[in-house]
Amino acid sequence: METRKLLWPMALVFSVILLLQYIELPYGYVLSSLLSFGKSQVTSAGGFLAGAAAASNINPTTEVLHNATKLPDPPNRNRTDESNKSSNASSGAANYGRAAGYPPQDIPVKNRSSKDETSAGNKSVSLSMFVNNSNAGPRTDLADSVYNSSSAVKSPAKRKWIKGPPAVVVPISAMNDMLRQSRASYLAVKPRWPSRADGELLNAQKLIESVRIVDKIPRVDDDVYRNYSAFVRSYELMEQSLKIYVYDEGKRPIFHQPEMSGIYASEGWFMKQIEESERFRTKNASDAHLFYLPFSSRVLQETLYVKYSHSRKNMVAFLSDYLRTIAAAYPFWNRTSGADHFLVACHDWAPSETKRIMRNCIRALCNADIRGGLQFGKDVSLPEIFVRNASDPLKDVGGKPPSQRRTLAFFAGNMHGYFRPILLDYWQDKDPEMKIFGKLRPGKGRKTYIQYMKSSKYCISAKGYEAYTPRVMEAIFYECVPVIISDNYVPPFFETLNWESFAVFVLEKDTPNLKRILESIPEKTYLKMQERVRRVQKHFLWHMKPVKFDVFHMILHSIWYTRVFQIRPS
Ligand SMILES: *[C@@H]1O[C@H](CO)[C@@H](O)[C@H](O)[C@H]1NC(C)=O
Ligand SMILES: *[C@@H]1O[C@H](CO)[C@@H](O)[C@H](O)[C@H]1NC(C)=O
Ligand SMILES: *[C@@H]1O[C@H](CO)[C@@H](O)[C@H](O)[C@H]1NC(C)=O
Ligand SMILES: *[C@@H]1O[C@H](CO)[C@@H](O)[C@H](O)[C@H]1NC(C)=O
Ligand SMILES: *[C@@H]1O[C@H](CO)[C@@H](O)[C@H](O)[C@H]1NC(C)=O
Ligand SMILES: *[C@@H]1O[C@H](CO)[C@@H](O)[C@H](O)[C@H]1NC(C)=O
Ligand SMILES: *[C@@H]1O[C@H](CO)[C@@H](O)[C@H](O)[C@H]1NC(C)=O
Ligand SMILES: *[C@@H]1O[C@H](CO)[C@@H](O)[C@H](O)[C@H]1NC(C)=O
Ligand SMILES: *[C@@H]1O[C@H](CO)[C@@H](O)[C@H](O)[C@H]1NC(C)=O
Ligand SMILES: *[C@@H]1O[C@H](CO)[C@@H](O)[C@H](O)[C@H]1NC(C)=O
Ligand SMILES: *[C@@H]1O[C@H](CO)[C@@H](O)[C@H](O)[C@H]1NC(C)=O
Repeated sequence: METRKLLWPMALVFSVILLLQYIELPYGYVLSSLLSFGKSQVTSAGGFLAGAAAASNINPTTEVLHNATKLPDPPNRNRTDESNKSSNASSGAANYGRAAGYPPQDIPVKNRSSKDETSAGNKSVSLSMFVNNSNAGPRTDLADSVYNSSSAVKSPAKRKWIKGPPAVVVPISAMNDMLRQSRASYLAVKPRWPSRADGELLNAQKLIESVRIVDKIPRVDDDVYRNYSAFVRSYELMEQSLKIYVYDEGKRPIFHQPEMSGIYASEGWFMKQIEESERFRTKNASDAHLFYLPFSSRVLQETLYVKYSHSRKNMVAFLSDYLRTIAAAYPFWNRTSGADHFLVACHDWAPSETKRIMRNCIRALCNADIRGGLQFGKDVSLPEIFVRNASDPLKDVGGKPPSQRRTLAFFAGNMHGYFRPILLDYWQDKDPEMKIFGKLRPGKGRKTYIQYMKSSKYCISAKGYEAYTPRVMEAIFYECVPVIISDNYVPPFFETLNWESFAVFVLEKDTPNLKRILESIPEKTYLKMQERVRRVQKHFLWHMKPVKFDVFHMILHSIWYTRVFQIRPS
């Protein structure tokens, strides 16, 4: 009898732990949350999962369930309730957009409720946010099974609220191999009927492949490119011939209304510049090599995400509807099932929102995670460039010369995701040469942050909730050599640039050796890398009007190049 009394609670706790572990909460976090919240917490988790199960019944494709959302809930434009529960951060930090973990600052991005990002540091608050589900329906079999046994593990409600370390780590060298192989192995949908535009692409492919170093292409130190001759040839062919058709369909604000500032601004700037482009945009779709789906993943989420729903279903449905519209109105989508269509999307959720319905499209994604759905030969990595001032995107560009960069390594940011606390555990206040901080203090924070970037040798770009972080681009903007600690992140323009020539890639597991790794880089090599950072910088800058080789052209080039090498002779 005694034993039984003991066994039941133990079994209960054990199965709950299993469940929570399964949904990939960091372990210690689970335990402490359980202790602090007790049973009511568990109940609401059950109710919440019930909602998930219900959703999965409706949509057996489980689009919404796949690596669903992360903590915390993203902002909802007109949300007002509960905003007081969060830590006090109604100031600049609230305007930060996604919880990218910046030091707070006064950026007039948009009025948002403050709850979302700012409470992220507070684990207990965060947990209550995500287990709460106002739509929680009655408990279903799934919820029961959670309490009954660990059989829930086999349930369809596979969710990842906070991503843990990736199960498989793909080092940059392996990515290089995968990229090379993708040219032969990725087979795009064969067009149902031929087009003149495809013939032109095939021709471009032959011209790029036949380029030789002896061809009249100016030689520079071309180490920053994988193949400088091929790049220049491809770029020139793009400038001469590429035509893009932009669908007029689609209502504002999700379509045709670019957001020009904040951390998701890349998709907005691209949208604006392609829509205004006289060189690349064609009004005659029969001329087009590529078709652009002009939506903003950021505005999609802001407009349609239902708070606490943890479901992207309505956003996926919305985009599906759009695709149906254009497939009915034009022959182009059906011709290739979308293979000559592309999207440019910077929000965290874009990969999962588009992975099924736009699976054939070329997707330019900020959230470029090789284990998160990005596919070489089809998708490309989009730089996440934090635009602080939409009328002056080049403000503060540049940094100190190497001789005046006295800090060895710098990082500051909110404790988003599982990795940053690990980084801080190892390096915060441990070594005067390693300036590794959490969130910098409000007010002065912004200035300090930029000053550090401008005067450090290496800038640590540590992943947040997702693999991508705007720090990679900031480092280049401020001429600091980026140190990317984000397993499986595919850096922008990977098909063109030789990232290892100007950035340092450190595996997450090597964090304890970070200083040793950086110190082992000879000064001469560092100087060379820093010089290359300055050289590639032009590829990552937005200009009010696009200029040759800037980020607008480079994004276009990535997409063009990808499509060119998808074409097979018929
Ligand atoms: C929220 O905003 C949407 C459009 O942005 C609007 O249709 C809706 O009525 C708003 N809801 C509330 C409660 O203000
Ligand atoms: C938030 O807090 C302020 C002051 O602390 C209070 O006036 C306001 O009513 C609160 N709002 C909500 C929704 O609780
Ligand atoms: C938020 O902070 C400001 C100043 O830092 C303070 O005046 C205000 O009372 C705080 N509000 C809450 C709800 O803590
Ligand atoms: C932000 O909200 C305040 C008051 O709620 C308003 O006065 C201001 O114009 C808003 N700013 C923007 C950019 O919407
Ligand atoms: C987290 O929230 C709890 C309760 O809301 C509060 O007591 C605590 O100070 C917060 N911790 C941080 C780090 O904000
Ligand atoms: C859960 O959400 C409901 C409705 O939004 C709210 O009334 C309740 O207080 C929330 N519970 C927690 C623990 O936040
Ligand atoms: C276990 O699950 C069954 C149905 O699967 C249910 O009838 C039973 O009540 C559950 N037991 C507990 C303790 O929840
Ligand atoms: C660059 O690409 C061209 C065309 O594919 C090829 O002929 C050349 O050998 C490549 N150069 C290098 C250094 O790989
Ligand atoms: C559109 O382009 C096609 C192919 O280049 C051409 O045959 C057709 O006349 C063009 N239509 C218009 C309206 O210019
Ligand atoms: C494209 O295919 C869809 C589904 O098969 C069909 O409904 C649509 O009418 C087709 N579009 C055109 C223009 O034929
Ligand atoms: C943004 O840049 C413009 C042009 O340089 C300047 O006039 C404006 O004051 C800047 N805005 C902010 C908020 O810094």
